[in-house]
Amino acid sequence: MVASVISVDRLRKTYGTFVAVEDVSFEVEEGEIFGLLGPNGAGKTTSVECAQGLRVPDAGDISVLGLDPRTEGSQLRQLVGSQLQESALPGRLKVWEALDLFASLVPGGPDWRQVMERWDLTGKASASFSSLSGGQRQRLLVALAVVNEPRVVFLDEMTTGLDPAARRATWQLIEAIRDGGATLVLVTHFMDEAEQLCDRLTIVDEGRVVATGSPQSLIAEHGGDLLIHFSTDRPDVSFLDAIESVHTVSRHGPHVTVAGHGPVLALVGAELVRNGIVPTDLRVQQSTLEDVFLRLTGHGLAE
Ligand SMILES: Nc1ncnc2c1ncn2[C@@H]1O[C@H](COP(=O)(O)OP(=O)(O)O)[C@@H](O)[C@H]1O
Ligand SMILES: [Mg+2]
Repeated sequence: MVASVISVDRLRKTYGTFVAVEDVSFEVEEGEIFGLLGPNGAGKTTSVECAQGLRVPDAGDISVLGLDPRTEGSQLRQLVGSQLQESALPGRLKVWEALDLFASLVPGGPDWRQVMERWDLTGKASASFSSLSGGQRQRLLVALAVVNEPRVVFLDEMTTGLDPAARRATWQLIEAIRDGGATLVLVTHFMDEAEQLCDRLTIVDEGRVVATGSPQSLIAEHGGDLLIHFSTDRPDVSFLDAIESVHTVSRHGPHVTVAGHGPVLALVGAELVRNGIVPTDLRVQQSTLEDVFLRLTGHGLAE
C-alpha cells in the first residue's frame, strides 16, 4: 500500500453564492506526478489552493503530509513548494537575489547556490528577471518553488502561453523535479500535457470529479475503440470479423480499418500473418484524454 501524500475528501468551496468546487475528492501518492485536468473554470486552482491552505474550504477534509492546511498551514508551507506567477516577481530583481530571498524565508536557510547550479542559472546569477528568456524565467520560477526542498510541489498551468519548444523544456523540468524525489501536483487544461506527464490524474468539470486513473487506464476504460489501419489487395478479410475483440471491419478500396478493444492489435496482427497478409503500413490509432473527456462530459476541453 503506497502512502497518500495528499488526501482531499469531498471538498466544497463557494465564493458568495457561486459554487466553484461542488464535490472534489482525490488522493496523491508519494513520488508521483498527479494531474488535475479540466477546462478553465472547473475549480482546479481553487482545489489546490485549499490544499495549500491558501483558501478556506466550506466543507470537506484535506490532509497534506499528514497536516490539516486549515489549522497547520504555516507548518505545511515549509514542506510544500508552489510555482509563482511571472507577474509576482519584480523585473529588476536579480536571479541570485530572488533565490537568496526565497531561501532566507526557510528555516535552516538552504543552499540556494546549489539550486541555482542545478537549474542551470549560475551563468545568469546577476541578470535581472526581466532580462531573462522565457525558458530561463521558467527555470527560475521552478528553482524558487523547490529552493526549500519541498516534499510536495504544486504547479498550476505552467505551460500556458509557451511555444512548443518551451513547453517541452518545461515538461523536462517537471520530470526533473520528480526525479529529485518530490511529489508533484500538476494543474492543467492541456490534455496532451496530462497524458504525457501524469502517472495518475483526476478529471474535473464544473466543480466535480469526472474520473480518476492513469492516462492509459482512463483511455482504455472510457476512450472507446482502438482503430487499426492497414492496406491489402486481398479482396476478402472477413476472417477478421471472427476475432472476439473486433467490433467492426470497414474498408475503402485497399484501405481497411478495424475497430476493437483490449488485445485487438495483437490478435489482428497474428490473424493477418496467419492468412498470409503482412501489411507494411499497419498502424494503430488510440483515443486520447480529449476523447475521454468528451465522452464523459459531452463537451470538449476548450472553452
Ligand atoms: N476569488 C474568486 N471570487 C469569485 N469567483 C471566483 C474566485 N476565484 C475563482 N472563481 C470562480 O470559480 C470558478 C473556478 O475557478 P478556478 O478554481 O480558478 O478554476 P480553474 O483553475 O479550473 O480554471 C470559476 O468560475 C472562477 O471564475
Ligand atoms: Mg486555474
